[in-house]
This record gives sequence, structure tokens and C-alpha cells, in this order.
Amino acid sequence: MKVTGRVQVPGDKSITHRALLLAALARGTSSIHGALTSHDARSTAAVLRRLGVGVSPLRAGARIMVHGSGRLREASRPLDCGNSGTTARLLLGVLAAHAFRATLTGDRSLRARPMRRVTVPLTQMGARFSEQNGDGLPLTVEGGPLAPLTYRLPVSSAQIKGALLLAGLAGGVAVELVEPNGRSRDHTERLLRGLGFAVGQQGDAIRFDPAGRVEPFDLSVPGDFSSAAFLMGAALLAQSGELTLDGVGLNPTRTGFLDVVRRMGGTMESEGVTEALGEPLGTLVVRPSRLRATEVAATEIPGLIDEVPMLAVLAARAEGSSVFREVGELRVKESNRLELVAENLRAVGMEAEVSGDDLHVTGRDAPPVGRVRTAGDHRLAMAFAVLGTLPGARVDIDDLRSADVSFPHFEEVLASITAAGAHG
Ligand code: S3P
Repeated sequence: MKVTGRVQVPGDKSITHRALLLAALARGTSSIHGALTSHDARSTAAVLRRLGVGVSPLRAGARIMVHGSGRLREASRPLDCGNSGTTARLLLGVLAAHAFRATLTGDRSLRARPMRRVTVPLTQMGARFSEQNGDGLPLTVEGGPLAPLTYRLPVSSAQIKGALLLAGLAGGVAVELVEPNGRSRDHTERLLRGLGFAVGQQGDAIRFDPAGRVEPFDLSVPGDFSSAAFLMGAALLAQSGELTLDGVGLNPTRTGFLDVVRRMGGTMESEGVTEALGEPLGTLVVRPSRLRATEVAATEIPGLIDEVPMLAVLAARAEGSSVFREVGELRVKESNRLELVAENLRAVGMEAEVSGDDLHVTGRDAPPVGRVRTAGDHRLAMAFAVLGTLPGARVDIDDLRSADVSFPHFEEVLASITAAGAHG
């Protein structure tokens, strides 16, 4: 299979959610260019509209205009966050500082995902929660005046960190946080700094003491590195050609995938790196490569958390046995991604097993053939679609439409860069 093309990947999901929420807290009109328009981004926009914020339709290529009034207004109905954990968790942080009740819900996958990781520290700040489904959604929050917080996160997580920083911002109180096992993505911190707030960082500790209001802003969102990673994966597994990806976000807390793939022998170069509101972006050029196995350490995981499915697929085609240490967090993503990555690799004839919280994958040459069960998880669908581009592959994915959660038109883009098409 030959890879060719020059692609601009869709806007960054994490930055799009945060930009919409921050614009909602500003008094006046903000303009967001290059935002993601996928299902998850639409969930955040729809929920904000219910909370009284004017958000223009999310259409690919169009600017999003957000008319904020500085505060959110009480919604008459439950807020449906769809499949989006980031929407639910960040919103809980913002709502914790608002003196009204709001009920959050989501699809089947999201309702099963843990929320106490944010409600426990937000309760310490003074917000009240009533649970209708244990640790999951639906959940009702009743916010109000908040107290400052000093807190050590149970796991390194940008969703927990972001929720608490946004609670501090909306409530006007200081927040001091420590991440326990490496730094998670720092988009909230960078955006806050870009908006003129001081956010201190020392090692894994963050200090944020908000002074002043959020002013309306103009922002250009870089391409999503995590979406780019699937196309990079396809290029690495190809037999010939070259793929160029333009305008990809290269925030160092997101690009652990590059370090691991280079260690595996992958050829990837970044060019023309610039910056937009504190976020680096550039062009990536990727060439087909012979890969060898590697060990991914626990401290590397936060920097590549969403890339483990793609890396596991690459490890299944590399020479030797790879291990991903301490990837238990993958059990509480859009699916039990840890078990499903291993189960699906085995289902298509590859070798993978979970041992404790570690994932072991051994490379094999035989063409992958079999049926993949994604449980509606977009990243599993995309990683296995890439595996399906190999010569002789017959990978039957139960639901590739779930890719729309983060990467609209993924199937067409993958088919356009791989001469043999998306399915083997
Ligand atoms: C995200 C953080 C990550 C990631 C998710 C998006 C974010 O989750 O898996 O896709 O935008 O904050 P955790 O921070 O909970 O690991």
C-alpha cells in the first residue's frame, strides 16, 4: 500500500471545548477559527446554548461566534453531553461556581464514566452534588460561592485539572494542584495565560490565582495531534510514499507519540513550527518505516493517553514484544479501551494481552483478518481502520461512524491517502 497526500487535520478537540467554555465566561463576542465541528464539539456548543450562551452553528471552515454574558443562566432541562467526557467534566467545574441547579447526562458510554474524580474536589470547594447513578451520570450540581482549593489529583488528568482551574476562574478563587504521575495536557493553562491570567507551574505543581475577568478573544485552533496520529500510523505502516500533515498542534504535553514512534524506528519530521495563543503548531512529514518493539514507561502515558490504541496497532506490526506500563486509565475512556485493544488485536490474529494494568503486544507479519468490536469508541474504530489498510487485511469494524465523535470524514480522508482504500 502506498501513502500519498497533504492533509489538514480537523481542529483540536481539547482546545475547541476549552475555547467555547472560556468564551462563554467572557462578557462580549469571541471568535474561534479552525475549531473542531465533530459530535463532541457540538455537545459542548449545544449545552452552552441551553445555558443562555449564543453560539453560532458549528460548520467546517466557518468561524464560531460566541456571545457570552460573563455568567451562565439556569437551564430548564437536563444538559446532554453526548459522548463527551471533556464536556461533562469541564462543565461541572464551571457550574460549581454558579448558584443554580443543573443536571448533566450523556450517552450510554458517558453515563458509565467516573465523575467523582471531579465532584470530590469540587465538593471541597463548596459545590453540592446529588448522584442519580453512583459515580456516573446523570448527576445534579448546585453551585455557589467557592472556597480556594489545594489538591493532589488521584491521577494525572487534564479533565480533572481543567475542571478545577475553570471552577477557580468562574468562582474567583485560588487553586493549587499537583499531578501525581506526570503532566497531563496543559491547554487550559496555556489558554488562561493567553488571556492574561498568571498560571504558575513548578514541576508537577500548578498555582492559579485568578485576577480580573475573562475578556472576549479571537483564537485560531491548531489541528488535533490525536487525529493526526491515526493518519501518521497509516503512513508508517505503508510500503511506499510520504504523507504531509499541515497545521498540526505540537504542544509538548500532547506529542509523546512522536517520541515513542521515533524510538521504534519511525521516520517523522516536523517543519515550520509557529505559535498561536501559546500553542505550537507545524507541519509533520511521515514516511513508511520498519518498526521495532519498545517499552512505554508509566510517566510517558499522560503525554500519549489517546494514542495508545494507535501505538498498540503499530506495536502489533513491529519486530519484537512491546509493553505499555500502567495504562489502567484506559479502562475508563469512551470504552474499556484497555481490554478492547487487546481483545480486538487478538480477534484479527495479532498477539496482545493485559497483565495487571500493563498492555503487552507482540509484532506479527500475517495480514490482519477478523471482526472488530468497538463499543462505539471512536479511537478504537480509527486505529483498527488503519490496521485494515495493510495489504491482504480484512478488518471488519462494527461501527466506523463513531469516528465522527472527534474526526469528521475520517473514512474518506484515510481512503484518500492510502491507495488501497480504507478497508483491506
Ligand atoms: C482530555 C483529556 C484526556 C483525554 C481526552 C481529552 C481533555 O482525558 O483522554 O480525550 O481535553 O482534557 P484525561 O485527562 O481524563 O486523561
